[in-house]
Amino acid sequence: MSVTENLIIQQEPISEYSLLTSEELDHRIAAAKQELGKDLVILGHHYQRDDVIVFSDHRGDSLQLARIAAGLQDTKYIVFCGVHFMAETTDILTSDDQIVILPDMKAGCSMADMADDQEVEECWEVITEQFGESIIPVTYVNSTAAIKTFVGKHDGLTITSSNAEKIFAYALQAKKRILFLPDQHLGRNTGVKFGIPLNEMCVYDPKEMKIEYPHGEGDPRVILWKGHCSVHTKFEPRHVHEVRSKYPDIRVLVHPECMYETVQLADENGSTDYIIKAVRNAPPGTKWAIGTEHNLVNRLAQEHPEQFIVSLNEMICPCLTMNRIDRPHLLWSLENILAGTPRNIIQVKPEIAEWAKVAIDRMLQIS
Ligand code: 13P
Ligand code: SF4
Repeated sequence: MSVTENLIIQQEPISEYSLLTSEELDHRIAAAKQELGKDLVILGHHYQRDDVIVFSDHRGDSLQLARIAAGLQDTKYIVFCGVHFMAETTDILTSDDQIVILPDMKAGCSMADMADDQEVEECWEVITEQFGESIIPVTYVNSTAAIKTFVGKHDGLTITSSNAEKIFAYALQAKKRILFLPDQHLGRNTGVKFGIPLNEMCVYDPKEMKIEYPHGEGDPRVILWKGHCSVHTKFEPRHVHEVRSKYPDIRVLVHPECMYETVQLADENGSTDYIIKAVRNAPPGTKWAIGTEHNLVNRLAQEHPEQFIVSLNEMICPCLTMNRIDRPHLLWSLENILAGTPRNIIQVKPEIAEWAKVAIDRMLQIS
């Protein structure tokens, strides 16, 4: 059973909260926050909806939120407005008496679901048989705690889109080859930034349990897991051509979870934090077509009326799992804390958390 299937079974209905008006939701969330005071911190990923992110005490990308979580020593309840793997990371980085809550258990990540620990064990057997002990596993933080544990136990570490090049440098100093989990696109795009030719990057298909060489059969430096983000892969090369023919002086800025062909056509690519800073630092009148999650692009457009900002693909939906976190679920979580019956507690089993933390700490030390 995949992580998302598991989560769908576990979310309780919150029907009476869905009937509240917008004013009631805002008023009761603010009141619950005030009553919980210092006992509560709400963390929000940049891809969250506007009406939810306004209630976050800290907003950030995956790396920033992991760092903030690691520093929250006195907070009793941490409500994570993001997706399941982020709440797991927060639980791993905080102490046992701190309680991490995900407002909706359906807020999984389709990319994280593309690698389960059994499949990764099988992959390791296949690739170590072929390449011996020359491989270090590296996993994007967008993965389950069980995958992080596997990586930690095999001398590897986690990575985010903001520190990808630093982690690649570390990993390739340690071993000749990287097994990159679970996003082939971030892995490939980082490999290219690092100067690794495409024919030295192969793809491991977990369904077929075999290695593919889509770009020609060189001696692989990076073995890419065949996973992807269902949001970022919707930005295709044709969208870059279309937006440039409509606005000839537009700058195309994309996240490295987009496919290689799109990234190559873009003017710039970088993590969520990179995208925000690029827009913030651009002169008035700059025109942007941005290839990342819809909520963030819309927010940037609102916050920077002095610039012209459109989505690289106007037809895409927001990340549906991130959007599971809405005000009714946030309020339900907060009022359950106040009632002394906290729900949706994310608690990673100690035997999994121990090695997952090793993998995350190695990353935090380097980045
Ligand atoms: P970052 O926050 O690392 O940019 O990741 C993007 C993402 O897809 C989060 O799910
Ligand atoms: Fe997962 Fe992509 Fe959504 Fe991020 S944007 S949570 S990687 S599906």
